[in-house]
Amino acid sequence: MKKIIITIDGYSSCGKSTLAKQLAKQLDYVYIDSGAMYRAVTLYFIQNRVDWTSSEAVQTALTNVHLDFVYNALSDACEMLLNGENVEHMIREMVIAEKVSEVAAVKEVREFAVAQQKKMGARKGIVMDGRDIGTVVFPHAELKIFMTADITIRVERRFKELFVKNKNISIEEVKQNLELRDYIDANREISPLRKADDAIILDNSQLGMEEQLELVMQWVEDAIMAHTS
Ligand code: DC
Repeated sequence: MKKIIITIDGYSSCGKSTLAKQLAKQLDYVYIDSGAMYRAVTLYFIQNRVDWTSSEAVQTALTNVHLDFVYNALSDACEMLLNGENVEHMIREMVIAEKVSEVAAVKEVREFAVAQQKKMGARKGIVMDGRDIGTVVFPHAELKIFMTADITIRVERRFKELFVKNKNISIEEVKQNLELRDYIDANREISPLRKADDAIILDNSQLGMEEQLELVMQWVEDAIMAHTS
């Protein structure tokens, strides 16, 4: 069957990665979490005290950043390697979430990440999630999805995820972080989060995971049919 590119963009904690992983598994495609790349760069900048408001400092620092994804059979997922070190857990911490939108708004950082993301799509058969995948990274993707969900539901989902690791986290803290990230992501100068004109909106506030997958698999079949000559 013809392989396509599927892009999933949307607000923070809408369940983009959950859906992307399910699709990749079902279709035997590669799943790329583009947000993990911005998170890994943020981790590097924090660890190395890089001043990301200085274009020069960012350019120099990025020459020392090497990003890779590695498959972990135990978690059945791709994990992020930063200069050869597995940083999958570290990049999910709140300290990273607090800064990642600022770092992801830096022009040089975006150019660095987007260039690598474009290469990953060369062989098709890929599901990539993020904020600018359908608009900037793969503007010609065969299927583009724009995900959204009620803020209350998103906060609850994210809180549950973070609470497992950190019992001191509060709902208010999670809500503020999500709202701030959404604001910065949607209002930054370079490739802000927005729906591509040809993206299908998926509001999953009231959708169960199985129902959602069934619906999207139908969109995938339609997209494959439409692009098979
Ligand atoms: O998907 P995520 O929450 O892991 O993404 C972390 C941050 O990275 C998010 O706040 C915005 C940024 N991001 C981006 O600007 N462009 C992408 N394609 C993916 C993520």
